[in-house]
Amino acid sequence: MSIKVHIKNNHAGPDTFPSTPESESVFTISMDRYAASAARYDSIARQLDVFVDWDTDHFTESMKTAEVLLTWNLPTENLAKVAPHLKWIHIIGAGVEHLCPMDWVPPGVIITNNRGVHADKAGEYALMAVLMLHNKMPALLTNQRNKTWESLFSTPIAGKTVGLIGVGSIGGGAAAQLSKMPVHIIGVTRHGRPHQHVDEMVAIDKLDQVLPAMDYLFISTPSTPETYKLFNRQRLQSLKPGAGLINVGRSSVMDYDALAELLVSGHLSGAVIDVFDDEPLSPDSPLWSAPNFIVTPHVSADDGDNYVPITLDLFFTNMQRYIGGETLINIVRPELGY
Ligand code: OXD
Repeated sequence: MSIKVHIKNNHAGPDTFPSTPESESVFTISMDRYAASAARYDSIARQLDVFVDWDTDHFTESMKTAEVLLTWNLPTENLAKVAPHLKWIHIIGAGVEHLCPMDWVPPGVIITNNRGVHADKAGEYALMAVLMLHNKMPALLTNQRNKTWESLFSTPIAGKTVGLIGVGSIGGGAAAQLSKMPVHIIGVTRHGRPHQHVDEMVAIDKLDQVLPAMDYLFISTPSTPETYKLFNRQRLQSLKPGAGLINVGRSSVMDYDALAELLVSGHLSGAVIDVFDDEPLSPDSPLWSAPNFIVTPHVSADDGDNYVPITLDLFFTNMQRYIGGETLINIVRPELGY
């Protein structure tokens, strides 16, 4: 008996994922892309019966027999009735806040996410962004827009301190890249467990003790009740004068109005921000013109050529475990929201 897998792709739209037409082609698991990956996992793929769908076109019909769902989102109402054979949902993103609270998950259904898929790309982005901040690129770009020739000098980065807020797969990717430079890396996580590329690791309850040491902060935390407005106005004000910020996690972690004001006042030297409350960022947003503020449109961690193959590698690796009755990797803990 084969395992029925339903793959749900989304057409791009501002209220879903992917949000832009150009990202639709990056994240779509077409039958051709599926087949290309399946050819590398032949013995597993032969045990699967895969149906590739768009939005909810054939969701209700196909989910009557599906055991596994590969998707970014789903209609959660009455799921146990709609999908009586469902055992496993793999989410093709790292963040799962759009599915929280997870009180809709039928008993016995496991959720996994794409943790790990973003590490390499996000690590390089972290290195780039820290070096951009350190070399005053945001200010230089602002000056360029204003046709201002100002000699803004910088120093080699040796001796600076980079704080990683969140050291999961993305923060770990950042640590791996940043540790190639002579910087001191402080990691802040929920538990404070050591990491091979982090010089000093602390638990989140020590955040305020370590913040004053940080020249640059790379934030990659998920959106959870615990991280909500972690970087509120007061905490942003408490950062070292001249500190620079990077956020690739979620916008809910920071007060962006306060950030913009602290950039205007010069207390903070620059910010590279990849995640926003409303994506696409509205043309009316004052953030576009905040000084020393670089906007990247939620592209920091996604490999534009290989997101689907890397995702399917993870999926087939997990499918092998699923078939073998082993514990899956990347299980989402509904109570933590990631
Ligand atoms: C994700 C992201 O959640 O890229 O995967 O933000």
